[in-house]
Amino acid sequence: MTTHKKLIAGNWKMNGSLAANEALVTALRQGLAANAPACDIALCAPAPYFAQLQSLLVGSPMALGAQDISAQAQGAFTGEQSAAMLKDFGVRYAIVGHSERRQYHGETDDAVAAKTAAALANGITPIVCVGETLAQREAGQTEEVVKRQLAAVIHVNGHCISEIVVAYEPVWAIGTGKTATPEQAQAVHAVLRAQLHHAASEHAAGIKILYGGSMNAANAAELLAQADIDGGLIGGASLKAPDFLQIISAAAR
Ligand code: PGA
Repeated sequence: MTTHKKLIAGNWKMNGSLAANEALVTALRQGLAANAPACDIALCAPAPYFAQLQSLLVGSPMALGAQDISAQAQGAFTGEQSAAMLKDFGVRYAIVGHSERRQYHGETDDAVAAKTAAALANGITPIVCVGETLAQREAGQTEEVVKRQLAAVIHVNGHCISEIVVAYEPVWAIGTGKTATPEQAQAVHAVLRAQLHHAASEHAAGIKILYGGSMNAANAAELLAQADIDGGLIGGASLKAPDFLQIISAAAR
């Protein structure tokens, strides 16, 4: 059982607008003012809105996060954003290796490890995503897949592995409404915890392992009650203030 504060991170994906972001953050700030959160909170937003969100989040308990980060420091890398650029806007977290980036942008385990290193070197907390596809789960490969994905990150970042956040996101549960059962999720989280323990011994208990994949207001409490589930990475439900606020309250217990 881990004892640290949970982390609830919203992954807005490619959603939002100036008007929608302002309405969402205003509603979240109102909800949190009425009911101070007992967990850490991050909003991982599209990069064009960082400046807007940096100012909307001033004085709030919510931290700004990115959805990706370049492994490179600067130069001829069209379309990428460096860690230093994220830092300019007060970004504190960066999702790394989300399955949508692995799938649509060909991000390999090695690329994910390099991005993790870039985040850590710049004081940004990487939220490193791992997870199996449905075919891999049905073939009994879940453990092997998530361990391989995490091992690549540990291999490159072993010296500061206690600074990362891990997110277990079964690909078949993302955006599908099919959540892993609390028992299924806990089983994989325990595997990841053991792997982290091997890499970081006494620090492993302090590394947050989030669950993601159709976490919502109705199922969050049960998932967050599991021994090795230290928070959530929430897509769809993070775009609706009442739902996200309910997940935040579930993380307080
Ligand atoms: P979902 O997305 O909550 O919409 O399933 C989670 C994620 O992809 O991070």
